[in-house]
Amino acid sequence: TRPAERHRPLFHFTPARHWLNDPNGLLHFGGEYHLFFQHNPFGSTHGHMSWGHAVSRDLMAWEDLGVALPEREGRAIFSGSAVVDWHNTSGLGLPDVPPLVALYTGHREGHQAQYLAYSRDRGRTWHDLGEVPVLDRGKCDFRDPKVFWHSGTERWVMAVAHPTERQVEIFSSPSLRDWTSESLFGPAGDTSGPWEVPELFPLMDEDGLERWVLKVDVYPGRPAGGSGCQYFVGTFDGRTFSPTTPARWLDHGPDFYAALSFSDLPGRRVWLGWMNNWRYASRLPTEPWRGTVSVPRELSLAESAEGPVLRQQPVAELDRLQGAEFGVREHTLRDGVPLILTPHALPALDLSLDLAGRGARRLVLHIGSGDQEEVVISCDLGGRRLVLRRTTAPSVGAPEGFDGEYEAPLTAADHLLSLRILVDRSSVEVFAQDGRVVMTALAFPEEAGWTVRAAAQGGDAEVLRSSVYALRRAAP
Ligand code: FRU
Repeated sequence: TRPAERHRPLFHFTPARHWLNDPNGLLHFGGEYHLFFQHNPFGSTHGHMSWGHAVSRDLMAWEDLGVALPEREGRAIFSGSAVVDWHNTSGLGLPDVPPLVALYTGHREGHQAQYLAYSRDRGRTWHDLGEVPVLDRGKCDFRDPKVFWHSGTERWVMAVAHPTERQVEIFSSPSLRDWTSESLFGPAGDTSGPWEVPELFPLMDEDGLERWVLKVDVYPGRPAGGSGCQYFVGTFDGRTFSPTTPARWLDHGPDFYAALSFSDLPGRRVWLGWMNNWRYASRLPTEPWRGTVSVPRELSLAESAEGPVLRQQPVAELDRLQGAEFGVREHTLRDGVPLILTPHALPALDLSLDLAGRGARRLVLHIGSGDQEEVVISCDLGGRRLVLRRTTAPSVGAPEGFDGEYEAPLTAADHLLSLRILVDRSSVEVFAQDGRVVMTALAFPEEAGWTVRAAAQGGDAEVLRSSVYALRRAAP
C-alpha cells in the first residue's frame, strides 16, 4: 500500500480523490443503490460544493461515477434528498420512465433556498428545473430538504431545517414543485448549535404499531463535542410531528453526522452518515481523498423502560465480506488475563462478543496497531456505561483535538453484554446491546493492521458467544 493510501477503508465508501461530507439523495431504483454526497471536485477541503455520485448493487461495493450536480456559477449544491416520482406527479418523466427527482439547497453567500433537479436516465445525467428555486424564504440559513411520499395523505412531504431558529419546517406538495407549509417543530432537545439535515420517517415498533422518528443534527452540540445527532420518536399525521419521547443522541461517538436514509427501499429502513466531525474534518491525515461514510445501518425500534429507542445494526450485506472466522476457544475470561482475539493483524474485521460477568465488573477491549493502543473500549458489566478512548500516535499527524474519551450510557440487564464491533482501516463502529447504543469513531493506526485484545477486570467473565471475521475489500 502506498503510504498515502494506507488509511483508505476497505468496506466504507470514499471518493477516489478530494473532499466528501454529508451523504445526499440516497435512493434505491432498478436494483441500484445511489449514494450522492457533498463533494468538492477540486480539493480536499469544503468548497465548490457539488453532488458526487456512486452506485452499488449490494450497498458495499460502490462505483464512483463522478460529479452528478456541479456547482452552478457560484451557487453551491448543498445537502438534500432524492425520490422516484413513480406516478410522474412532477410531470418531468417520460412515458414509462419515472423521473428521479432531487431536492437540494442552493447556497450563495447570504442566501439558501430549495431547488429541484431531475434525471430520466437512472441518475446518470441531471437537468435543472430552471434557475428558480421551488421553495424560497429569502433566508440566509434554510437548508437540507428531505422528501418522502406520505401514503396517508397521498402527497409529498418535506422536512427542512431553519438552523438558526433550531426548527424543522414540514411542507407538503402534490407535485414536488409547489410546497405548502404545514407545521414547525422545535426548538426542542439540544439547541446549543444550529440544526441541520433533518429527516422524518416511519418505523414499526415491536408491537407492530407505526411510529415516526424525527432526526436532526446539531453542530456544535453533542456531548462528546462537535457534531452530534439527536432523534425524537412520536406521531405524524401528514402535517405535524408530535414527539412522545425526549430527545436522545443516536450515536455517542465523535464521528457520525448528517445521516440520511434510502428512499424507495421497501421492507427496511437503511441509513448511513458522514463518518466525521466538523470540529476537525478538514484536517484529517488522509490523501488524496478526505471523508468517508459509515457502514449502512438498518433501523428498528426497541422497547425500553423509557419508551421506544432507535436500534441501528449493520446491514446483512456486510456478512458477504466476511472471510475466515476465528472463534475464541477459551470460554472464561480470567480476571486480568488478556485474551488475544485476532490471529494476526487484520486490516478490517467484524467482531461479535456476548459476555456474562461472573464477578467481573468491566470488560476492556484494546484495538491497536504495532505497539499502540489506538482505541480502548471499556464496558461496565453492571450496565452503566460504555467508554471509548482514542489515542493517536504522534507520527500519524492527527488534527489537534482529535484524541479524547467518549461515553455512552448502557442499560444492560443481569450483567450481560452484547457487542458487535466493525473495524476498518481507519474507523471503529461499536454496536452495543443489539444496536441500541452506538459509538462511531475514526481511528488512524500507526502501523497497518489491527489486533484486538480482551480482558475482564474485577473478576471473571464468561464468553457466551464470540466470533471474529476478517473483512474483505468490498469489490464489484
Ligand atoms: C451538514 C451541512 C449541511 C449543508 C452541508 C454543506 O454537514 O452543513 O447543513 O447542507 O453540510 O456541505
